[in-house]
Amino acid sequence: MDRFVIEGGRQLAGRIQVSGSKNAALPILLASILVDEPVYLSNVPRLRDIDTTLELLRLLGCQAEREASGDVVIHACHLRPEAPYDLVRTMRASVLCLGPLLARLGRARVALPGGCAIGARPVDLHLKGLEKMGARFSLEHGDIVGTCAKLHGASIILDFPTVGGTENLIMAAVLADGETVIENAAREPEIVDLAEFLRACGAVIEGHGTSVVRVHGVERLHGCQYRIMPDRIEAGTYLVAAGITRGRLEVEECPLAALDAVVAKLREMGMYIEREGDVVVAEARGELVCQDVTTQPYPGFPTDMQAQIMALMSVARGAGTVTEGIFENRFMHVPELCRLGARISLSGQTAVVRGVDRLTGAVVMASDLRASACLVLAGLAAQGRTVVRRIYHLDRGYEAMEKKLAAVGAAIFREKE
Ligand code: EPZ
Repeated sequence: MDRFVIEGGRQLAGRIQVSGSKNAALPILLASILVDEPVYLSNVPRLRDIDTTLELLRLLGCQAEREASGDVVIHACHLRPEAPYDLVRTMRASVLCLGPLLARLGRARVALPGGCAIGARPVDLHLKGLEKMGARFSLEHGDIVGTCAKLHGASIILDFPTVGGTENLIMAAVLADGETVIENAAREPEIVDLAEFLRACGAVIEGHGTSVVRVHGVERLHGCQYRIMPDRIEAGTYLVAAGITRGRLEVEECPLAALDAVVAKLREMGMYIEREGDVVVAEARGELVCQDVTTQPYPGFPTDMQAQIMALMSVARGAGTVTEGIFENRFMHVPELCRLGARISLSGQTAVVRGVDRLTGAVVMASDLRASACLVLAGLAAQGRTVVRRIYHLDRGYEAMEKKLAAVGAAIFREKE
């Protein structure tokens, strides 16, 4: 297992490039199952989860390769309906192949994803919506086994604006008979990117990005070329890196419009964040002040930025609360931040953060993707040496983070444990 060694206290300065979005690329890669012609995807980030998804696509009978150019080509020509547990358990997003397999083949066997560090993460809303479209499911030896004659349009009201559930239902609906209306749909920018990809393949979708999405089923989809949107969570992480090191970063490909709630909160804390030409400039001009944050479905403050802004608040003035409104167990970074000297107390789904003048380096343990990013950010600010262990969590969602940070002045090294 790898670890990061960070000598903290250095101000970051320079240009940092955001890669393609993990959470847009994963559903788009799996949506390629719906297309019986080659699909060419660019700006696909080089991440472990992407490699896992390409492996899953190959197991499902697709040709799925990354070309020398970096583009990914997928051709779902000889589909098989089974996604094995050993692969699904390493990446929950594999459940997003359920809708496309039912739409293309009328059957699917996908291992029921177990829980993960941040919560139980059930998929009941995915299955309920697909059943309204004519699918039938059974649980056999830990696998979800789904069958349908042919999916038909339905009117679905989601109990919760689930991102994955909305994505699975949109993908199932594009080849279904008739119209599907999804109400209380998730509105995340990654869903808009998925819908725009499917429209580029000939799907008829409207309302994506709002809470009512309408899909008119078509006979088949055709191949296309598509560029994945930039990763707004990676971008937000680097905005925080500028603030926590009291540096100045010029962030390239920063999807500012998809980060409204994050940018608003960082500005409230005292950061300067503005587009200047082809970059977004982020810097802490003067003292930063703690604020209160509650994570919510988009366009609210994203849960995937909760740990990162908590790291920033831990070295800001005053006190603030961080309330996690999406997942039931997404505070595992708190005890690790406290090892670095942060003053944070937990009460249910709310953390109270009291800013300190400085953190001091220590050995800490990453537990999940965004907690890892939070600990790296804290290590960049902490006095002395911080070692972040189990960095494989980070490799799932941040492309070459240590290289990007070192290029703007961080003293950060990857080592084998
Ligand atoms: C997506 O997960 C993202 N993953 C997550 O990012 C992100 O945190 C999450 O959306 C929320 O924004 C990908 O896009 C690959 P949900 P997803 O379905 O789709 C409950 C990261 O760090 N729920 O919106 O699994 C669920 O338990 C990852 O990049 C049900 O109860 O999220 C959770 O409490 C972490 N039943 C809440 O909804 C269901 O059928 C949000 O889940 C589905 C969800």
